Amino acid sequence: MSGIAFSEPLVELHGISKHFGESDTRVDALVDVTMSIYPQEVVGLVGPSGSGKTTLLNVIGCVTEPSAGRMRLNGEAIYDHRWLRRDLRRLRLEKIGFIFQTHNLLPFLTGRENVMEVMELAGVSSVDAGRRAGDLLDYLQVGHRQDAMPAQLSGGEAQRVAIARALANSPRIVLADEPTAPLDSARAAVVMDLLRRIAIDREAAIIVVTHDESIFNRFDRIFRLRDGRLVSVDRNRSAETIATVLANVPRTVIRGDS
Ligand SMILES: Nc1ncnc2c1ncn2[C@@H]1O[C@H](COP(=O)(O)OP(=O)(O)OP(=O)(O)O)[C@@H](O)[C@H]1O
Ligand SMILES: [Mg+2]
Repeated sequence: MSGIAFSEPLVELHGISKHFGESDTRVDALVDVTMSIYPQEVVGLVGPSGSGKTTLLNVIGCVTEPSAGRMRLNGEAIYDHRWLRRDLRRLRLEKIGFIFQTHNLLPFLTGRENVMEVMELAGVSSVDAGRRAGDLLDYLQVGHRQDAMPAQLSGGEAQRVAIARALANSPRIVLADEPTAPLDSARAAVVMDLLRRIAIDREAAIIVVTHDESIFNRFDRIFRLRDGRLVSVDRNRSAETIATVLANVPRTVIRGDS
């Protein structure tokens, strides 16, 4: 891990605040949050309900505009008291993968087509997209259901397809809001292995909001929020070694360049 501290952060927030509403109805969802997350890190974001976790993910994902502060993503200044880029949609498509608490699959496409669609939007040929989507779904143990429509999938299956969709373009920044909540512990472990492999191979930063204490030992650092403020950052020293985790994950699935 020693090399990580010397690389440029993928996510840099300086004094980020976000409030909703004004005067009587004002809610300070984020207050002066400063944090940096580095390539190859898998970090947890924890805190009580209403502490600002989802708001913070949405700010980093350029979905929610902050009220103040500065943000750089992948070394590029993205926000400085206003958005500095017009094409936020393209930035999200190419650089950021979202995994939501409830899946956001398109109901009129099969599971595999849902994954392929994101690849094709980024310029991958449909032949390559089909193969890569199939590989990714196989690894997430939902390959056998790839031709089913989302409404025909169980909750856990749909969530795994949604995770494949988020990872489709091997984004450098992966934002996950309770990604393992609908999964049993074995499949939650598979998802965490996969996120770790993405972090390593793509030098990505993975940020996971969770209440699931069974995966806390998977994080390099845990950021704790309370009332919109970052109150502590714990570095995980229990360190199940990265090599052990990686031994379980086939490389070819993630590299997508075979
Ligand atoms: N669009 C909005 N308009 C007004 N207030 C909002 C909005 N979104 C979030 N909030 C408020 O901001 C605060 C932080 O909400 P947020 O969703 O970020 O919390 P959270 O930590 O993700 O909670 P949970 O664990 O319940 O998902 C809460 O008080 C919430 O009510
Ligand atoms: Mg939330």
